[in-house]
Amino acid sequence: MGEENHIEKAEENHTGNANGEVVSESGEKYYSLEEIKLHNTSKDAWLIIHDKVYDITSFMEEHPGGEEVLLEQAGADATESFEDVGHSTDAREMLEQYLIGELHMDDRRKESKKDVFITTSGGEGSAWTTWLIPTLAAAVVGLMYRYYTL
Ligand code: HEM
Repeated sequence: MGEENHIEKAEENHTGNANGEVVSESGEKYYSLEEIKLHNTSKDAWLIIHDKVYDITSFMEEHPGGEEVLLEQAGADATESFEDVGHSTDAREMLEQYLIGELHMDDRRKESKKDVFITTSGGEGSAWTTWLIPTLAAAVVGLMYRYYTL
């Protein structure tokens, strides 16, 4: 019984990876940039591509583009280099078998913080000014009109 459960879980993980979106239902892992940086040798190499972390140690010698380019990027974010080469769909599918987790939220460069900033400061500020300035202008014009017509 225990064994059956184990097999089912393994298959579930595999499907999740093939979708390319969900890492894993049960074993989601987040790694800090500091930890990833430590894996930068040919015997222990990790890469970050699109905020996901890959242990490519066993792939180094197989890489059609050579071991050296991977070693240069090991322990770092290789998203740009990976995309610059224009890797095929096959290459992208290969990535999934080396996936070990995701980059920690704190180490990501995301737009979520910017969104919050724009909503809070932008909304309040502009509503206040657009309302106040025309009101003051109207009051001044009204006073001047009254002054000159008396
Ligand atoms: C684990 C990550 C990677 C995988 C699975 C991977 C896989 C592949 C594959 C399958 C190819 C053959 C061509 C293709 O199908 O697109 C290839 C070629 C190549 N890759 Fe990667 N690659 C990875 C990371 C990188 C990185 C980070 C770089 C750059 C620093 C790189 C540079 C290259 C180059 C220069 C070629 C040769 C392109 C050519 O000769 O046309 N690869 N890679």
